[in-house]
Amino acid sequence: MPPMREHPVGIIGAGRVGTALGRVLIRSGYHVTGIAARSAGSRDRAARMLPGTPILEPAEVARSSGILVVSVADDAIERVCAGLAVAGCFRAGHHVLHLSGARGLAVLRPAAEAGAMPLAIHPAMTFPGLDTDADRLAGLAYAITTRPAERPRAEEFVVDLGGVPIWIAEEDRTLYHAALVLGANNLIAPTASAMEALAAAGVPDPGFVLAPLARASLENALRTGDEALTGPVRRADTGTIDAHLRVLRERAPDLVPAYLQFGLVTADRARRAALTDADRLARVIAVLRHEAAEVHQDP
Ligand SMILES: NC(=O)c1ccc[n+]([C@@H]2O[C@H](COP(=O)([O-])OP(=O)(O)OC[C@H]3O[C@@H](n4cnc5c(N)ncnc54)[C@H](OP(=O)(O)O)[C@@H]3O)[C@@H](O)[C@H]2O)c1
Repeated sequence: MPPMREHPVGIIGAGRVGTALGRVLIRSGYHVTGIAARSAGSRDRAARMLPGTPILEPAEVARSSGILVVSVADDAIERVCAGLAVAGCFRAGHHVLHLSGARGLAVLRPAAEAGAMPLAIHPAMTFPGLDTDADRLAGLAYAITTRPAERPRAEEFVVDLGGVPIWIAEEDRTLYHAALVLGANNLIAPTASAMEALAAAGVPDPGFVLAPLARASLENALRTGDEALTGPVRRADTGTIDAHLRVLRERAPDLVPAYLQFGLVTADRARRAALTDADRLARVIAVLRHEAAEVHQDP
């Protein structure tokens, strides 16, 4: 079989990832023969991110491709594949891949049953829709799920993109993705909450103040896990926690639930990792639970 780079690529879905990936594929020497874009926003994005790439109907994109990237919302992948299978768009030797972290090969069954090679390839990165998203695709882990016969093809594709292949079993894929949501998506809410509280405290550039501390905390956590924890929960400093809650109630009441919930999660990890004297930590947990119950009763 020829190298992956010699197969024409078609992309279904001109969203954030489909267009960023298309751009990187072109940079890496692949020929993107067409992209399917539904809404006006998607068509604009395709024209901006992939100038010169024809915008075609999904069936045309599929038929003209040797590698078909189905970059639609996770819940739509199977439906899109089933429609293309009914229209006779798949053939033996066709590579059909999606980019979802939470889904594996099962959603590509309609393509596989029509003789195509199904590949699930998830770039472990966030793509918020910036024009620079494509620059983030190199040097990443790509979580691959394939049948054994297709492993070398998937690996070659990922290496061509500048990525690092890691292998995830079909049954582990959703857990893998839940982990990334915990460790990455869930960083946004506390960070945005902290910036809001800093602004309320009169800090003119909250990001400037927070960035070194937040980056150091993340780097420490990546190195040592729970051991990286500092702050009032680890010290079991209920006086400081009480003072925080008093001022938040007065000055930034919308942030009280976040402070309590993150505090409880932190306290639970500190307890499980035995970082802090258990009795003193139990008092912290009691305070946080009591306050959380009050917030719950008084929405
Ligand atoms: N964004 C991330 O950070 C990220 C990271 C890694 C992997 N992924 C994965 O990448 C894939 C695409 O995500 P995304 O963030 O790029 O999503 P997105 O920006 O919402 O784009 C999804 C695209 O799919 C199209 N689409 C949705 N349902 C469709 C259907 N039934 N038929 C045809 N087209 C359909 C949408 O079309 P219209 O808007 O025109 O309707 C849109 O162009 C998903 O599997 C996601 O899990 C995302």
